[in-house]
Amino acid sequence: MKLELARSAGFCYGVRRAVELAEQAAAQGTPCVMLGSIIHNQAVIGRLAEQGLRSVKTPEEVPDGASVIIRSHGESRAVYKTLESRGAQILDATCPNVTRIHEIVRQAEEQGRRPVIVGTPDHPEVTAIAGWCREPVVVSGAEALEKWLLEAPDRRNLPITLVSQTTSTRKIWDDCVKKAKKECTNAEFFDTICGATSKRQEEARQLAEKCSMMVVIGDSQSSNTKRLAELCREVCPRVQLIESAEELDLTGLPQADMVGITAGASTPAWIIKEVYDKMSEEIMEIEQSFAEMLEESI
Ligand code: F3S
Repeated sequence: MKLELARSAGFCYGVRRAVELAEQAAAQGTPCVMLGSIIHNQAVIGRLAEQGLRSVKTPEEVPDGASVIIRSHGESRAVYKTLESRGAQILDATCPNVTRIHEIVRQAEEQGRRPVIVGTPDHPEVTAIAGWCREPVVVSGAEALEKWLLEAPDRRNLPITLVSQTTSTRKIWDDCVKKAKKECTNAEFFDTICGATSKRQEEARQLAEKCSMMVVIGDSQSSNTKRLAELCREVCPRVQLIESAEELDLTGLPQADMVGITAGASTPAWIIKEVYDKMSEEIMEIEQSFAEMLEESI
C-alpha cells in the first residue's frame, strides 16, 4: 500500500504572506485586529487569537487607535475608505494576485466597459472585487453568463471585461470565455485564475487518478479546498474532505492499494503532518498484521 502527499499541498504564497504579517503584528504587542477571517482556516485563526489577535466583522468595529489587518481575499473600496476615515492603520494582507484583479475591473469601468466576475457570488474575494466596480456583474459559470447576456440590451456590442475568481477551475473559466466569444463581439478576457491554484488542482487530479482513496484537507469554508475535492471526485471513487486528523475515516483503508493526500491553500503544514502521520501509522499497522497473518498461514 502506498501513501502519497501532493507536492503543492498546503499554504500558497498569498496565504503564507497574510499569516506572517498577522504573526508579526501580534508579536509587536500594539493594538491590532483582523477584519474578518484573514484566511479561511479556523485552526489558524484560533492560533492567532491565542497570540492576541481578535477578529472584527465590520470596519466600524475596529477600535480607535488600533491597526487593522485586511485579509488575503481583499476588501472593497468602501471598506478602505471607511478605515481611512477612521484613521486606522491598515496592514494590507490582500494577495497581490487579488489586488491585480481590483485594478483590472477598476480600469475597465474607467474605460466604459462592464466588468463581469466569474466566481462564487457570496465568496469574500468575489464581493471584494465587485466592491471595486460601480456596476459589477457576477456569474457562477457559463449558464449564468448566458442568462445575463440574453437579458442584456445590445449584447453583441456590449463592451465587457471578464475576470475570474482566483480559485475558480479552468473548465468554468474556459466555458465562460467560449460563451462570451459566441455571444459578444466586444469582450475582453483576463484569466486571473491563480497559478498556484491551477498547479494544485492539476497535481491533485493527477494524484487522484492513481488512487483508490483520496483525502483532501481544508476548512469547510475554503472555496479552493472544496474545488479540490470536486476535481478529485471526478476521477477517484472515494474522496474525503476533512478539516483535521480527528475527522479521518479509515474504513476501507485495508482494501486501498494507493492513497493520496492533498490540502487547500489555507491549510497549515502542522495539520497536513498530523493527517499524514496518522495515516502512515495506520498503514504500518495494517501491513504488520498482514505480514503476521501470512507467517501464520505458512
Ligand atoms: Fe493568492 Fe493564489 Fe493564494 S490568489 S492567496 S496565491 S491561492
